[in-house]
Amino acid sequence: AAADKGGWSSFMAKEVSEEPEAVANTLRGRIRDGVVSIPELDGLDDLFAGINRIIVIACGTAAYAGMVGKYALEQWARVPVDVELAHEFRYRDPVIGSDTLVVSISQSGETMDTLMAVKYAREAGAKTVSICNTQGATIPRESDAIVYTHAGPEVAVASTKAFVAQITALYLLALHVGGVRGTLTPTEIAQHVLEIEAVPEKIQRILDRSQEHIEQFAGWMADTRSVLFLGRHVGYPIALEGALKLKEISYIHAEGFAAGELKHGPIALIEPGQPVFVIVPSPRESPVLHSKVVSNIQEIRARGARVIAVAEEGDAAVLPFADEVLHIPVAAPLVEPLLAVVPLHIFAMGLATAKGLDVDQPRNLAKSVTVE
Ligand code: G6P
Repeated sequence: AAADKGGWSSFMAKEVSEEPEAVANTLRGRIRDGVVSIPELDGLDDLFAGINRIIVIACGTAAYAGMVGKYALEQWARVPVDVELAHEFRYRDPVIGSDTLVVSISQSGETMDTLMAVKYAREAGAKTVSICNTQGATIPRESDAIVYTHAGPEVAVASTKAFVAQITALYLLALHVGGVRGTLTPTEIAQHVLEIEAVPEKIQRILDRSQEHIEQFAGWMADTRSVLFLGRHVGYPIALEGALKLKEISYIHAEGFAAGELKHGPIALIEPGQPVFVIVPSPRESPVLHSKVVSNIQEIRARGARVIAVAEEGDAAVLPFADEVLHIPVAAPLVEPLLAVVPLHIFAMGLATAKGLDVDQPRNLAKSVTVE
C-alpha cells in the first residue's frame, strides 16, 4: 500500500533513503567507548581463536558485500578469506574443517542455496556465523552465532540498504576478530570505529546533495544499451554491485570489471560512446591505486569511452578525463565502498524509473529464492 512506502514513489526509493539509518542501526549498541563489543558474540571467542581461514558464502548482492568484507577481515584480523557463491561452494567438495569459519550473509536468511551451504559446512565441522537481516530466520537458526544487520525490513527485490548494513556488520566482525586475535591494538580499533561511525552522515550528504542530479543524469541515459563498471580493491565489488543493480531493475546489459583486468580483455569492448562508470579511490588515502585508476580512465577515454567517475570531493586529477563526476565525501579506504555504492544505487533506480519500469518488482526475480 502507498502508506507503507511512507510517501516515497517506491519501496526502493524509501530503502535507499534509509541507507544512513541502516548503517547507524547496525552499529547501535555494538560500540562502547570506542571499543567494538557485539553482545551476540559474548563468550564465543572460541569461534575465532582457533581458526586459520574464513570462507564467506552468499548469493547476489550479499556476495558482493562479502567481497568488500574480505578486505577488512584480511587487513584487520589477518585471516585468509575466500568469498564464494553458496551454490558453487556447496557442490565442489571444499576442503573445510574445524579450523574454518564460514560466514554466511543473507538479507532474508531464507535463501536456499545459502542455507544448504551453511548446513554442509556445519556437517563438515566448520564453525558458522550468520550475518542476517531477518530475526529468527532459518539460516541464523542453523548457525553457531549470529550478527544481525539492523537495516529494517527490505521490500524492494533489489537489495540496497541491506547491502550497506551487511558491509557494516562485516566490518564490526572484522574489528571484533582482530581484537580477539590481537592483530589490532585498541587504539587502531578506536580509529577504525570513528571512521565507520562517520558513515551515516556522509551517506546522508550524498543523498541530500546529489540524488536529484544523479536521477536526472540517469534519465538522460535511459536509451543506453550497455554500461560497464570498473573498480579496483574495494571498488571492484562495488563495480560488480553497480552492474548487478542495473541488470536487475533496468534490464540493461551491465558488467563490472576489476580495472586492472581491462587490458587483459574487457578493453576490447570499448567503442566510442560506451558509458563506463569508474570507482576512483581517494587521491590522498590511496595515492597508488588512485593513479592506477586514473591511468585506466585515460586508456578507455582514448578509445572513446564516456567516463562517469565516482570520485572523492576535491579530486582534481580525474576532472580532465571524466565526462561526469559523481562526488562522494572523503573517507578512509575501507569506508569508501559504503559511500561509492550510493550513487550507483540511485543511478540504477533513476534509470529504471526513467524507462517506466517497476523498480520494486523487476521481472523474473524474487526477493528471496527458497529453492535451490
Ligand atoms: C535474490 C534477490 C537478490 C539477493 C539474493 C540473496 O536473488 O533477488 O536481491 O541479493 O537473493 O538474497 P539474501 O536474502 O540471501 O541476501
